[in-house]
Amino acid sequence: MPIETRMEDQLTLPLADAPGNVVRLPAGARPRAAGAPARTSGNGPRLAELLGALSLALDMTEGQPAGHCQRSCWIGQHIGRAIGLSTLEMRELYYATLLKDSGCSSNAARVCQLFLTDDRSFKRDVKIAGSSLPGMFRFVLSHTGLKAGLADRFRALVNAVQNGGQIARELTETRCSRGAQIARQLRFGDAVAEGIASLDEHWDGSGAPEGMSGDEIPLYSRIALLAQVVDVFHTSVGAQATREEVARRSGRLLDPRLCDVFDVISRDADFWRGLAAEDLEQRLFEMEPARQPQPVDDDYLDDIALAFGQVVDAKSPFTAGHSERVALVADQVSRGLGLDEDQRRWLRRGALLHDVGKLGVSNTILDKPGKLDAREWAEMQRHALQTELILARIGSFGALARVAGAHHEKLDGTGYPRGLDARHIRLETRIITTADIFDALTADRPYRAAMPTQQALAVMRESVGSAIDADCFAALERALPSLGIRC
Ligand SMILES: [Fe+2]
Ligand SMILES: [Fe+2]
Repeated sequence: MPIETRMEDQLTLPLADAPGNVVRLPAGARPRAAGAPARTSGNGPRLAELLGALSLALDMTEGQPAGHCQRSCWIGQHIGRAIGLSTLEMRELYYATLLKDSGCSSNAARVCQLFLTDDRSFKRDVKIAGSSLPGMFRFVLSHTGLKAGLADRFRALVNAVQNGGQIARELTETRCSRGAQIARQLRFGDAVAEGIASLDEHWDGSGAPEGMSGDEIPLYSRIALLAQVVDVFHTSVGAQATREEVARRSGRLLDPRLCDVFDVISRDADFWRGLAAEDLEQRLFEMEPARQPQPVDDDYLDDIALAFGQVVDAKSPFTAGHSERVALVADQVSRGLGLDEDQRRWLRRGALLHDVGKLGVSNTILDKPGKLDAREWAEMQRHALQTELILARIGSFGALARVAGAHHEKLDGTGYPRGLDARHIRLETRIITTADIFDALTADRPYRAAMPTQQALAVMRESVGSAIDADCFAALERALPSLGIRC
């Protein structure tokens, strides 16, 4: 069951030592985030660094080895340079390839529902499966409902075989249109958005969602698809087999002229060495083609956090709007606690991104209507640390990474991922935790309907002191009218 479910279960359990042993914090003992949040204008992260780090969350959703989007971007830049793109075009291509999977979370739940399988391995393996009918048939047979009952598996298989074309179009359409929308929210223009929207179109017209062919397909989409094929095959079967696979797909999925260009590039051993280099991420950031250096100021950072919060929320129907609501509630709680505008703004970003690590959790777990087994629960718990690890890759996000990644820690030390106790859980984390629990309880879950506000508050009250900070809880209760929430 989703993480919030587990949290709720813990909250509803009788607390063996409450209320006498509830942790009471001495005044002033609550740690603050190291490094006060500061305005970012002038010294904020570079756009490439920021989006490069967040692209790691997209890799997890696609079941790809970490760095897939970055490597695709790196390959794309080699192809773009070889065909003589201008600096502006190279920049557009840079972000179209880096963000090609921005819409990936939007069809994950549907993949899981239609094929009764883990969306991440399905998405990983479909990229390797051949596009021929027998190839796709074998893929569907080997990936549909493997852990489901016989009758359910049979129904899913019949549906996949009978409606395969329509299903593929639906899944691709969702992913591509959402990806283009996210690119626009990230302030990219039509060229980047359309490059992402047409990623799954094939040179021979067999792709989706529009069935475009040849030069009708935007150039950035054609390059991004080639780059994707190169990285997926290179990480699984090596350089020589990748060259052969590109040649096999040339003129079918892939633009044959770009395949010829790639053939030349791929004869250079340095290309493959660069692709596998440990410092590829750093080199990629330095390759960012700059028409004019665009500082990521506070407004832009807010937009980026909001857009990626939406990518996270799109992963499961049960988390729709969760990150945004947590940010709103956290903001009102921080206002009630007297945080200044800069601190609140900083914290809103942390709240928007607190579950970014959930992009790596399979929908078979996120949307499971029953209790999680030990393995599933361990995978669910990993999301908190993943959030921290992803955000920590952005140089100036160190403090925010620790604050957001600790949102399942508890004051009594029984939380995760580190089992931090009250002495080490910062006010900013406590605020996000309070907002997160409140939203989890008052939203629908796979196994129950949303709780009425009063009931949710009563459940939370039980854990004030052990999991929930008393001041944050009081501020939450005071803030509800300003949030339009009736008790
Ligand atoms: Fe979480
Ligand atoms: Fe959450």
